Amino acid sequence: NSNQSLAGQHWVITAGPTREAIDPVRYISNHSSGKMGFSIASAAQSFGATVTLIAGPVNLSTPSNCNRIDVQSAEDMHQAAIDQAASADVFIACAAVADYKVAQVSEHKIKKTSTNDAMSIALVKNPDIVASVAALAKKPFTVGFAAETQDVEQYAKGKLVRKNLDMIAANDVAKQGQGFNSDDNALKVYWHSGNKDLPLTDKKQLAEQLVVLINDRMQND
Ligand code: PMT
Repeated sequence: NSNQSLAGQHWVITAGPTREAIDPVRYISNHSSGKMGFSIASAAQSFGATVTLIAGPVNLSTPSNCNRIDVQSAEDMHQAAIDQAASADVFIACAAVADYKVAQVSEHKIKKTSTNDAMSIALVKNPDIVASVAALAKKPFTVGFAAETQDVEQYAKGKLVRKNLDMIAANDVAKQGQGFNSDDNALKVYWHSGNKDLPLTDKKQLAEQLVVLINDRMQND
């Protein structure tokens, strides 16, 4: 890309799912493929930004000229995000972070027993990564995502305010052919003084449109 408008900026992007261990062989996770976050990293890099991609476990190759930090759990992602955010101009939280982790990870494989037909696992809250970044004294321009299955606008705007974000990109993850693990997506983007719809297209195009919009808003804020 000949447009190098992001030259000199450090963009940090989280992508993919997290894995919360239950025991040495099992975990809790979700269907995020990392495609959306990796596309954003690639787009920001093509506009000249220095890009750090903090990736949960995904099967994607690293976009060219991006620094990649691989993590597993939300705790690991949180640590990497705080470290990187110190030097970031923009932080984009595209990862599907597990809201809860297992309270007591079992050291050994949990055995099936003949006496218990039911079992339960206690969960405790994970740190909120994007909210932690937005709470830093030297806060980067912070963009969250919102994965919703209903009342998209209301929930997304709630997260924008509650997490102290500068912008939020909401997607409807109940619709077929978009959202988790699809090649396409559509976003409704909100900031404090406006909003913009980015209609259904492939994640690469959509990522470029989002990067342009973020850069626009940074210049007008
Ligand atoms: O990876 P793909 O298959 O391409 O799919 C893309 C996607 C659907 C995963 C992506 O577009 C998306 O919506 N990502 C956010 C998923 C999510 O966890 O949304 P949420 O509404 O639960 O979380 C809101 C925001 O808080 C997100 O920016 C999330 O990264 C962040 N968060 C959530 C929990 C937590 N403990 N820490 C966080 O930072």
